[in-house]
Amino acid sequence: MKKWLAFFFLIAFQLGTVNASETVPSSPNGIDFPSDYKNWELVSSSHRIDNNTLRVITGNDIAIKSARSKQTNPWPDGTILAKIVWKQVTLPSWEKAIVPGEFVQVEFMVKDSKKYTQTGGWGFARWKGEGLQPYGEDASFVFECFGCHTPVKDNDYIFTHPSILP
Ligand code: HEC
Repeated sequence: MKKWLAFFFLIAFQLGTVNASETVPSSPNGIDFPSDYKNWELVSSSHRIDNNTLRVITGNDIAIKSARSKQTNPWPDGTILAKIVWKQVTLPSWEKAIVPGEFVQVEFMVKDSKKYTQTGGWGFARWKGEGLQPYGEDASFVFECFGCHTPVKDNDYIFTHPSILP
C-alpha cells in the first residue's frame, strides 16, 4: 500500500512539474510561451523614465551567438529576443538604488523570415502579469507591435543594441 502511495505521489509530482509552455496559454497568433526564457543570457537592459519600468533584454542561444559575434543586422532565423519588464522600486536599504519590483510582462520577438513576411520577418508575442496572460484579443495585435518597431527598420526592427561585454 505504502509503495502505491509513493508511486501515486511521484506521478502527481511529475504531472505538476510539466513544462510551463504546456500550461501557459499560447499567444492569439499561435506562438507558444518559451518557458525556458528564464535561462537565456543577457543582451542589454533599459530603463523607461516615462512609465518607470526596468527592462532586461535577453536572447536564446542563436540570439546570443549572433550578439557576441556582432552579427545582428539582420538577426538570423531562429533568434528569439525577450524583454522582461518590472516596475521600478527603490531599494529600502539604499534608496538611491532603483531595482525591479512588481513583474509587469515578458514579450518576445521570434525571427522566421519565411513565416512572418507581413511583419518584417518577426513574430511578436507578449504575456502579462505574474499570471502570464497572453496579450491581444486576436492575432491582429502584432500590427501594433510591428508599427512601433518600424522606425528601426534599418536595424532589423530591433531597438536594442547588445551591451558592451568585455
Ligand atoms: C509604443 C511603441 C512600442 C510598441 C507598441 C511595442 N514596442 Fe517593443 N519596443 C519598443 C521600444 C522603444 C523598445 C526598446 C526600448 C525598451 O523598451 O527596452 C522595444 C523593445 C522590444 C523588444 C526587445 C528587442 C528590441 O527591439 O529592442 C521586444 C522583444 C519587444 N519590444 C517586443 C514587443 C512586442 C511583442 C510588442 C507587441 C505586443 C511590442 N514590442 C510593442 C517599442 C514598442
